[in-house]
Amino acid sequence: MHPMLNIAVRAARSAGNIISRSFEQVDKIEIELKGTNDFVTNVDKMAEQAIIDTIQKSYPNHTIIGEESGAIDGSDSDYQWIIDPLDGTTNFVKGIPHFAVSIALKVKGKLDQAVVFDPIRGELFTASRGKGAQLNGFRIRVKQNKELSGAILATGFPFKQKQHMPAYMNMFQALFVKTADMRRAGSAALDLAYVAAGRVDGFFELGLKPWDTAAGELLVIEAGGLITDFVGNHNHTNSGNIVAGSPRLLKEILKDIRPHLGEALSK
Ligand code: IPD
Ligand code: CA
Ligand code: CA
Repeated sequence: MHPMLNIAVRAARSAGNIISRSFEQVDKIEIELKGTNDFVTNVDKMAEQAIIDTIQKSYPNHTIIGEESGAIDGSDSDYQWIIDPLDGTTNFVKGIPHFAVSIALKVKGKLDQAVVFDPIRGELFTASRGKGAQLNGFRIRVKQNKELSGAILATGFPFKQKQHMPAYMNMFQALFVKTADMRRAGSAALDLAYVAAGRVDGFFELGLKPWDTAAGELLVIEAGGLITDFVGNHNHTNSGNIVAGSPRLLKEILKDIRPHLGEALSK
């Protein structure tokens, strides 16, 4: 295993321990609202600190961007860690056992290492640039579907940006009538990991943040899939509008999304 992936795994497991221990006493969790329908807990913060401590112990000069801490500039800006300590906080505070730790490393702007860890199921999704993607050490691959018929798509509702609901519902409807079914499980990092593992055929969501998707993106690419924004370009890290799947299926998803974009989502 690449030494930096090894550190990412160690960090994810230590955050995962904090999260699963706290999940046993959900009523003791301290919850704050940081924006519209956007929760943060003391557990998100503790988990993020554990990840930062683990990374800094081995790589004190690397830059770290954490959802809860913001950017911690290191003297070596070629190495940038992107952390979501707890993806699926709403599930977590409601006692729904579906959430994950997401850690990615970019080297000179390119995704290089990725970990998504589901501490409840003990599922560790990992990827290294050019080396494929794994689940608990076994190779995973994106389902190479060509059509929407029979496909299951994961998605997320725009619960923090409800102004996009009409456009989103139009996209949903156009896709739903063609697919077998949809899933809204509540963790974008796991949605992407599940695309990588072939558990779902594709994924689309709007308004995501870099820490929601950085690790999942490398998993999907290394598992033989593709990620774009809503018009098929690679501006998804900036816009947060994401489509993922096999190259052929992604094309089909884009065809049904495109007519409903409007100006705000055409990127
Ligand atoms: C959220 C989850 C969710 C997605 C939201 C994200 P958080 O992350 O990934 O599935 O729909 O847009 O913000 O806030 O739980 O880390
Ligand atoms: Ca997140
Ligand atoms: Ca989070």
